[in-house]
Amino acid sequence: MGRAFVYVILGGGVAAGYAALEFTRRGVSEGELCIISEEPVAPYERPALSKGFLLPESPARLPSFHTCVGENDEKLTPKWYKEHGIELVLGTRVKSVDVRRKTLLSSTGETISYKFLIIATGARALKLEEFGVEGSDAENVCYLRDLSDANRLATAIQSSANGNAVVIGGGYIGMECAASLVINKINVTMVFPEAHCMARLFTPKIASLYEDYYRAKGVEFIKGTVLTSFEFDSNKKVTAVNLKDGNHLPADVVVVGIGIRPNTSLFEGQLTIEKGGIKVNSKMQSSDSSVYAIGDVATFPVKLFGEMRRLEHVDSARKSARHAVSAIMEPEKTGEFDYLPFFYSRVFAFSWQFYGDPVGEVVHFGEFEEGKTFGAYWIKKGHLVGSFLEGGSQEEYETISKATRLKPAVTDVEELGRVGLEYAETV
Ligand code: FDA
Ligand code: NAD
Repeated sequence: MGRAFVYVILGGGVAAGYAALEFTRRGVSEGELCIISEEPVAPYERPALSKGFLLPESPARLPSFHTCVGENDEKLTPKWYKEHGIELVLGTRVKSVDVRRKTLLSSTGETISYKFLIIATGARALKLEEFGVEGSDAENVCYLRDLSDANRLATAIQSSANGNAVVIGGGYIGMECAASLVINKINVTMVFPEAHCMARLFTPKIASLYEDYYRAKGVEFIKGTVLTSFEFDSNKKVTAVNLKDGNHLPADVVVVGIGIRPNTSLFEGQLTIEKGGIKVNSKMQSSDSSVYAIGDVATFPVKLFGEMRRLEHVDSARKSARHAVSAIMEPEKTGEFDYLPFFYSRVFAFSWQFYGDPVGEVVHFGEFEEGKTFGAYWIKKGHLVGSFLEGGSQEEYETISKATRLKPAVTDVEELGRVGLEYAETV
């Protein structure tokens, strides 16, 4: 027994939600589209989980952050999917996919067939076990990828008031969760192997300002080392964390953010994989012409840099989703996906945006102080390729975005640092 759909979206995260809205705008008929997701809830804005969801007062809860509220667009509640004749199959894992036969097999034993498949399976959090440390199952060891992780973390936070948290990892999850823990009056120690936080993007100068601010909020940093083991009580709760450098840290809650792996396993041996993701062309189409991939799981050509990239950010999930739907429904009218990478984050009163590629020589500008506007430009082979701005206005962010897209030639790097933001206005 099985059901057949014209379009199937595998995965029910950010990209799936934005794809669904695009399908309805382009005119999908009742019963043509199915979304199948392991999560028990309709697609939501995942970034809320490390921010509003963890607030001590009036935390964000569904249905308030279903997609596509992140772009001030329609909020797609389960009722919306019903009204638009979209089949939402929730709480259901897809166990296998047969790309040649165009079928999926769900954990409930149902076979679903498609004419077009959109893979939107996102990624999973890397586990400590993959680095040889046991203990991820302890109730106070928290990862943060989906709603059930967020509920577990919120519960752990509630039972750790005035206690100690150890945050493992100095990337996005580490920084955003550390801020949320502090706001919840928990003492935080961050542990990571690099010399400074947000090593994939921040320069030492930007990182140093952030770290000083975090320290002033009581956060301690232990850098250049990793966790080696946990200590447990008789209930298998973690009581302390042991580090390679010999440090022993008491812990009421541990938050782990050590990176992700894209969920490609259903397609290995069936589709081309590149840079850890499903390789797609500039129409988000995979090596099988009936199968598209979007969001964190897709490795696509970034035309601006002439390179294949896999990005792990919400803007790329939203835009790649729209582009794939357009390419499927109106192939003749859909051009190449021409995407300018865009990342952002908000912690405490800080808020930054980044456009482009953080490679090459760096020039800083502005006043490096909390509450002020400052930033950095990256110059590669004589051209501006990346721009970071902290504390900018909407207009200023648009300005740096437009300038970065043009990849202007930079002749005087020192001058760039002196004029700062004004440079982007003149491009
Ligand atoms: P996403 O992970 O959203 O969805 C994948 C879906 O597929 C899930 O519903 C999953 O259950 C499902 N799935 C996977 N395998 C399946 C299977 N076999 N069967 C059925 N279903 C399956 N980015 C940013 O730019 N700014 C920000 O502030 C943040 N903040 C942020 C906070 C937190 C806590 C996280 C975890 C991530 C962010 N991000 C972010 C990153 C951003 O959320 C991420 O890039 C997008 O969610 C990617 O969207 P996708 O739809 O590709 O995957
Ligand atoms: P990340 O790649 O940002 O950071 C991983 C961090 O793990 C590194 O900075 C490093 O410090 C640390 N690390 C690696 N190996 C380690 C080890 N053995 N021990 C200790 N630390 C180790 O990944 P993340 O912070 O886990 O975030 C997960 C995903 O969620 C990413 O895709 C990220 O883009 C996304 N996310 C994005 C945002 C945002 O864009 N604002 C916010 C939250 C999450």
